[in-house]
Amino acid sequence: MENTIKTPMPQIQWYPGHMKKAKDIIVNNLKLVDVVIELLDARIPYSSANPMLQEIIAGKPRLVALNKSDLADGKVTKEWVAYFRRQGIPAVAVDAPQGRGIKQLVSMTEELAKPMTDKLVSKGAKPRAARVMILGIPNVGKSSLINRLAGSNKAKTADRPGVTRAKQWIRLGGNLELLDTPGILWPKFEDMTAGLKLAFTGAINDEAIDRELITGVFLQTMAEMYPDRLRERYKLAGDLPSASHELLELIGRKRGCLVKGGIVDTEKAQRIVLADFRGGKLGTVSLDMPPQEDGVAEDKK
Ligand code: G4P
Repeated sequence: MENTIKTPMPQIQWYPGHMKKAKDIIVNNLKLVDVVIELLDARIPYSSANPMLQEIIAGKPRLVALNKSDLADGKVTKEWVAYFRRQGIPAVAVDAPQGRGIKQLVSMTEELAKPMTDKLVSKGAKPRAARVMILGIPNVGKSSLINRLAGSNKAKTADRPGVTRAKQWIRLGGNLELLDTPGILWPKFEDMTAGLKLAFTGAINDEAIDRELITGVFLQTMAEMYPDRLRERYKLAGDLPSASHELLELIGRKRGCLVKGGIVDTEKAQRIVLADFRGGKLGTVSLDMPPQEDGVAEDKK
């Protein structure tokens, strides 16, 4: 991925000890499941992926669910789904709170697990449901997806002794059981551009970032990729100022973020811009494009 933005990285609270612990928990739980669902943010499928996922899951069959697809550019999401499928990874766009794509996700998961469960039966074991766990970075929507999948099956199956302690499983229909604790992975924070995109989407806690920097880069990116969205939302006509601080001032003025003497309250304007993006008020936006050929993803520029 091209790193065009030369800016200091936002602070992210993951240290090697945390990562090791997160990895160990996942590795222990992996022994209990047939399939993993890797949850990505459909707006930034490259930037929201954990950099060590392949290594962590060590060949366990996985499928990709592109969540928050209601906020992403539908055309780009379709391209990502096709991209993953070309890599032999089943993929589906979902919107966990609304339930979009969930039925397809369940049937794809069952299908992916079938060779494992069939193999057990062929070795003489009693047929059992396929077991699955959800993995993803913080805020990508793991809890929302578990809640949506659990639906009316909130009554969990009885505790079943796991490798280290009892696990809670949620039975989904007849053929699937979901581990009710998701695997939490660290984000791709060594990649500066990915880190900035995670900050735009709110995946990184606002208090831990330099909001002025993030909003500046965000506005610059939007002005290049989706200028009409900015014009529409903030009622701006003609060419947008090329300097992001001027663009922010203009937006602040339009939104009435003024303090004494008619000066723009830039902090308030920054909060408005980021909240508008995160809440979908700037329309559907995708900031990562799938690679054209095998390799790393590119900025959508
Ligand atoms: P996590 O377990 O992976 O940390 O994520 P979680 O489910 O807590 O979701 C993080 C935020 O993202 C929540 O919003 C949740 O509602 C929102 N979210 C999850 N999936 C989707 C989706 O498909 N579309 C959209 N638009 N939003 C989604 P929040 O503001 O933190 O909480 P709340 O407003 O739901 O209370």
